[in-house]
Amino acid sequence: MQARLKRTANIDDLRAMAKRRLPRMVFDYIDGAAGDEATARRNRGAFERLLLRQDILVNLSVRELGTTLFGDAVSLPIIVGPTGMNGAYWSQGDLCLARAAKAENIPFVMSTAATTGLDALRGAAGPLRWFQLYMLRDRGLAEALLARVYEAGFRVLQLTVDTAVPGRRNRDIRNGFTLPFRWSAGKLADAVSHPRWAMQMLRAGSPTLALFAEAVGPVPKGATISDVMQQQINDAFVWEDLDWLRQCWKGKLMLKGVASAEHARRAHAAGADGVVVSNHGGRQLDGTASTIECLPAIVAEAAGRYPVLVDSGFRSGTEIAKAIALGADAVQLGRATLYGLAAGGEAGARHALRILADEFDRALALTGATSISELRGRVENVAR
Ligand SMILES: Cc1cc2nc3c(=O)[nH]c(=O)nc-3n(C[C@H](O)[C@H](O)[C@H](O)COP(=O)(O)O)c2cc1C
Repeated sequence: MQARLKRTANIDDLRAMAKRRLPRMVFDYIDGAAGDEATARRNRGAFERLLLRQDILVNLSVRELGTTLFGDAVSLPIIVGPTGMNGAYWSQGDLCLARAAKAENIPFVMSTAATTGLDALRGAAGPLRWFQLYMLRDRGLAEALLARVYEAGFRVLQLTVDTAVPGRRNRDIRNGFTLPFRWSAGKLADAVSHPRWAMQMLRAGSPTLALFAEAVGPVPKGATISDVMQQQINDAFVWEDLDWLRQCWKGKLMLKGVASAEHARRAHAAGADGVVVSNHGGRQLDGTASTIECLPAIVAEAAGRYPVLVDSGFRSGTEIAKAIALGADAVQLGRATLYGLAAGGEAGARHALRILADEFDRALALTGATSISELRGRVENVAR
């Protein structure tokens, strides 16, 4: 596997490797998006309208890729973002991703939909461990979960605000994707034709939503992911309720799923310490703008008063460089590291991060910048 990983040059190669290893229903859960997947395509397409400006004959012999996030030094402006069901792509997937992030000295965000419990994850993750919350219907349970999360040393909380209702993901509906896996003849045949994945799952057992189970009790067998979200996620949580969250979370609070300057302004006014510009990788509301299109107005609204992170569609270090040039403080990854994880576990996730770091370093240097602050502004928008 190491040899195969070595021959993968970019994230697309890792995606192809992941596609070969995973049964279709699992690959589609990672790769798919909501509705016609127009937003997912737009996230990707928008990068081509942004052009980096190059400079030449600059002394590039000393370059610094690191930055500071909430007072912590990080080695790259990259974060391994929250993704659920990681154990379905590789056994102990959450631990693999957390270790890969730790090796690069970048934050790892644990998802409420993790397939690992809090104690195991706390052991594997480095000091830069962040937590993502899907607001639960029962405030008491949410409060108890947050107390455990803080106790486990997580200091940054991302409240995901674009999932009050789960996006309608057509690939998952067609594939009948559930957790734990519910087998039909077709799905069994699919699994058997991906023996490396099947053997691993047989040995480890079907992954479960372990953290949800710790927080709210056992998840009903055979429920779709959409069912679980619908049952447990609070779809009546509104701006005014942020006061309550602000009171019960002592660490830094970010809203994930902000896509307009007005919402960033309200988030900051409500006590949030930062925002993640996100459309959930096109997995929620289909037919919206790409996040890179929304970013400049939000950076302008923040005006350096609070960090602005961005995700959705990032597959190369050059694209990360474009977001940083536009003023983002860091880029959060979803599928890019998941393709690496699904292709080769912890080694695959680390390989994905190494590829992105190398591409980012070269892009930064070839614009003539030697640091993140010098990279700012070295980009132009060629079409609206
Ligand atoms: C398979 C998968 C699972 C995800 N699970 C979560 C989750 O549990 N919580 C969350 O806030 N976002 C979740 N996301 C969204 C990511 O955090 C991120 O917003 C999105 O993947 C960014 O787009 P990208 O995949 O194109 O990078 C998930 C995304 C994927 C692909």
